[in-house]
Amino acid sequence: MIFHKTNCLKGEITVPGDKSISHRAVMFGALSRGKTEITNFLQGADCLSTIDCFRRLDIEIENQADKITVHGKGLDGLSAPTAILDAGNSGTTTRLISGILAAQPFESTLTGDSSIRKRPMLRIIEPLTMMGARIESLGGNNCAPLRITGAPLTGIHYHSKVSSAQVKSAILLAGLYADSPTSVTEPAVSRNHSELMLRTFGAKLQTEGTTATIYPRPALEGQRIRVPGDISSAAYFIAAGLLVPGADLLIRNVGINPTRDGILKAAKAMGGNISLLNENYEGEPTADLHVTYSPLHGTVIEGNVIPTLIDELPVIAVMAAAAEGTTIIKDAAELKVKESNRIDVMVENLTAMGCDITATEDGMIIRGKAHDDRPLRGAAIHAHNDHRIAMSFAIASLIAEGETNIVDSECVAISYPDFYKDLQKLCLN
Ligand code: S3P
Repeated sequence: MIFHKTNCLKGEITVPGDKSISHRAVMFGALSRGKTEITNFLQGADCLSTIDCFRRLDIEIENQADKITVHGKGLDGLSAPTAILDAGNSGTTTRLISGILAAQPFESTLTGDSSIRKRPMLRIIEPLTMMGARIESLGGNNCAPLRITGAPLTGIHYHSKVSSAQVKSAILLAGLYADSPTSVTEPAVSRNHSELMLRTFGAKLQTEGTTATIYPRPALEGQRIRVPGDISSAAYFIAAGLLVPGADLLIRNVGINPTRDGILKAAKAMGGNISLLNENYEGEPTADLHVTYSPLHGTVIEGNVIPTLIDELPVIAVMAAAAEGTTIIKDAAELKVKESNRIDVMVENLTAMGCDITATEDGMIIRGKAHDDRPLRGAAIHAHNDHRIAMSFAIASLIAEGETNIVDSECVAISYPDFYKDLQKLCLN
């Protein structure tokens, strides 16, 4: 798909529902008794993979345009799948469902697309095996396909080497079925949607510092869940609003959970003009974001803030490329094991656009320049089928001289099927 520079970006936008929260609402609904009704569910390919997997485990799920209804059967209501479970491109589906399957009295095989089959699964195989499950990587490489043989589980206290909500959630979900409480301690707190939503469904769960503890065998009850707008999708419009001269955007109903809001802090540290309106702190917090064009400067992004903006680092790198001065991103080695190696892929494509960027072991160094002095130039972009890379470069194209061609642009369907249409509506020339 071809993109051009724009000189006018104005208007209001409502981004689709949060991907992490949409997955969890379906999963926790399936493990609860009674009906769970989910509105503003993200109809992206990843969340549809979660629905498909739970249907194969014999959970009835209705998908009407404006509402998902999950007919949950309680903790012991899943049945052995009649076919292989296919998580598609979704790491969240793969890792979270593994925690549930680890406790079932049946065997399941779980696979996904070529990207999922390269992503590291030892991080869940190790703790779930410690709890008593048997998980075999069929290729012998600690990646999917995984054959999971469920078993009665023992509660553990697991000290994770990575701050990963997928790892934490897999262990907590297995902990629902264990014989004693299960705790996970992570180096820094990762997104806490599982903890918040499991409590809403009736689980007993405590958190202290970077440790979450779940108590086994709660009676989970179906709920009404309204999914807030995804801050990870809003991030592209935040970046566009800051980068395009004269831009003025209102992004409505965005989730601003403090374990996800690092993009706001990073953007402000770079000189970005963002104000929060209509803040609402019932359940998952939300706000409308008002973003206006701001000349940006470089910053250092590191440490505990990294898990709170991990998926936004590609678009933050685009912001850094257009900023005055140097931006250093460190402590972000996890970028290498996302849907693509996001350090290498950002370096490849930003270099093609004329940016001075270097990969490091755990991040990147971006020597930006105000775009008047040394503008980015249009290029052929290879997103490596990674939705967040494609969207990041659609934003870079808005300030690049000449034509940008995103070769594999259709991968945005994973998390934001209408992304290009929504962006187009805001570009007034
Ligand atoms: C997610 C957690 C993060 C994030 C992913 C969604 C989740 O992954 O990158 O897009 O929903 O739990 P990790 O847990 O691997 O950091």
